[in-house]
Formats: sequence, structure tokens, C-alpha cells
Amino acid sequence: MCSPDHFTVEYTINPWMDTTQPVDTDLAKRQWTNLVEAVQAAGHTVHLLQPEPNLPDMVFAANGSLVVDGVAYGAKFRYPQRQLEAAAHEKWFRSHGWPYVAAEETNEGEGDFTYVEGPGLILAGWGFRTDGRAHAEAADALGRPVVSLRLADPRFYHLDTVLAVLDDHNITYYPGAFTPGSQRLLERLFPDAVIADEVDAEAFGLNLVSDGHNVFINTEAAGMAKKMAAAGFNPVSVDLSELKKSGGSVKCCISELRS
Ligand code: ARG
Repeated sequence: MCSPDHFTVEYTINPWMDTTQPVDTDLAKRQWTNLVEAVQAAGHTVHLLQPEPNLPDMVFAANGSLVVDGVAYGAKFRYPQRQLEAAAHEKWFRSHGWPYVAAEETNEGEGDFTYVEGPGLILAGWGFRTDGRAHAEAADALGRPVVSLRLADPRFYHLDTVLAVLDDHNITYYPGAFTPGSQRLLERLFPDAVIADEVDAEAFGLNLVSDGHNVFINTEAAGMAKKMAAAGFNPVSVDLSELKKSGGSVKCCISELRS
């Protein structure tokens, strides 16, 4: 995770970012700190990445890599405003002894990639940020099959805004954000998925992190928290209203280090 010390909304690279809206960086920091503490209270270890000036989106640490089986496949950001973030992630992994595979193809790490442990499957989004060629590159880098899913709604520009892994076998997703073919694919692979709706997605309720029991979720997504409880999980709500102004929430802040 990376503290939002330099968080602002000073450019627009997704429909949520409005540069005329004021951002309270101190409030963003307090909210982010609450998330760190909630994750630690549940028994998880949090490693910190040093925030850098002039990289206001660095708080969204999930976008810097996809880590599976102890190997990091690095990001290559689509927009120039975020491109220098990749080097900070690479430096962190290399200096902490993690094998790191640099990407040649455009991809935004866990923004568009996630991993389902049971079947050993990588799920990958394309359509707005990550290039489909990066899906093949990730399969080769990590030695795991990749399922390509096409995103169709510009509000939901990253896979992690509309799909989350809940445990070793199941996921939750908002079907309306995918093309009809990708919806069919998800139905076939995950017939027992928890289905979310547009209200859940707009509240960034799918931008959650689950450890298989606790589901860390944005406070605004009250309906989604109820669905998680009904599905047998323990929702842990954290208010990240400031970060939503940049089009991100819980999952965007957490890069999962899968050993
Ligand atoms: N402002 C950031 C961007 O548009 C938000 C990234 C959110 N991260 C995520 N994993 N969805 O790139």
C-alpha cells in the first residue's frame, strides 16, 4: 500500500475525475490510514511503498503489478501521467527479493488482473486500459492460464471496479459492465457467483478485497456489504470517499502479494 501524501485530482483519465472538485488530501490520508488499520487488525501484514511527489495516483498501489506464486509481473501504464509509478513498484520488488518480470505490453496490474487460487486462473480485463496482448504476456510470465474479459462501460474502466475474487473458488461481478460474450463466459466459469448490480458498482462496492472471510469494502456500498454478509462473509466497511474522486476505492489501494 502507498500513502496518499501527494493525492490530488489534477488530470482526467477516467470519468470519475473532475479537476474542478476540491480534494482534501488530509482527509484522504486519514481514510487510507483507517483502511491500513482495518487490514492489519484482521491479521494481515502491510508493506508500504514510499509515495512520490507529482504522482498523485500512486495511492492506487494495485495498479503497479500482478503477483502470483511469488512472481511479480510489472505494470506499464496507459497514460503518461502515471507511467513513472511502474519504476517505483519495480524498485520495491527487486529490493525486497521478489522475482520481477518487466512488461512490454500496456497493462495496469491488478486494476485489470486478478487471480482465483482454486482453479489457478488469472482473470483479465481489456477495453479501456490494459492491452489484450498483455494477457498473453502475463500467461507467459506467470505460467498460469488467463481468461480475457472485455469491459464495455467507460465508467468501469478497470476490471477491479466490477469484479472481485471472494475466496479460492468464487467471485462477485456486475454483468452489465461486460460485453454479452464476456457475460456468457463468466456465467459458464462461475455459475455460483454473487451477482452485483449497477448501484453496487457505482458505489465502488465491487472494488473490494476479500481474504476469504473478511471483505474490506467502501462504506458507501451498503447494499453490497449486505450481499457479502448474506453470502457468508464478514464485511468490514471503510470510508474512502476522497479517493473515489479519482475513481478508486479499497481494492485499488491494495496490491496483493501472493506467495
Ligand atoms: N485515477 C486512477 C486512474 O484512473 C484511479 C485508479 C484506480 N485503480 C484501480 N485499481 N481501479 O488510473
